[in-house]
Amino acid sequence: MLLQIPNVLAKDKLTVIQTILTKSQFVDGKLSAGMAAERVKNNEELAGDAKEIQQLNNLVMGSLVQHPDYQSATLPIKIASPFYARYRPGMTYGDHVDDPVMGPPQGRYRSDVSTTVFLNEPANYEGGELVIRTSFGDQQIKLPAGHAIVYPSSSLHHVAEVTQGERLVAVTWAQSMVRDAARRELLYELNQARESLLKQRPEEDETKRVDVAYVNLIRMWAET
Ligand code: NI
Repeated sequence: MLLQIPNVLAKDKLTVIQTILTKSQFVDGKLSAGMAAERVKNNEELAGDAKEIQQLNNLVMGSLVQHPDYQSATLPIKIASPFYARYRPGMTYGDHVDDPVMGPPQGRYRSDVSTTVFLNEPANYEGGELVIRTSFGDQQIKLPAGHAIVYPSSSLHHVAEVTQGERLVAVTWAQSMVRDAARRELLYELNQARESLLKQRPEEDETKRVDVAYVNLIRMWAET
């Protein structure tokens, strides 16, 4: 499932984030790439030990992790600190699948769900689409600043070459309580119906039945 989450970041936060990134030092993205990714990765990233990271993480992850659509689509049990990536003209990230296991030795997690948060406007650059291969063909994604796209980490994807301007994104991964992407999608759909029923008809018997079914499916499928 590809899910767009609009307005994860409000305008005032985006302005702060963009100001911080303008002043930040970026390093070659190959430094953080696994062996397979190194061949195809051609971008820049904020160094993992940069002093701005904590402030950026509070701004970006604070909003993303609390977003109800993110929670519902991802059912996270572990969420990684994001990478902040910059693509300038000529930069690209060729076809790859994200590493299955990430994190330091004492904090390993499985990547089930990948998320890209767009940090500047599409008008600021040419190219730079995130292209995700799906059973319905390639999906090209280029969203307004502050919007996010959530996609299975198992999907083949690439970032098209930026030909003008600068593309800024945050990319993060989550291990889900529900490993199987098809199950997560079912749960997401069911939860959409459940939330609307809980809002509109909280006392109806079918609302309670849908609620029980959703909660107990989580209990059946969740690994903690
Ligand atoms: Ni990727």
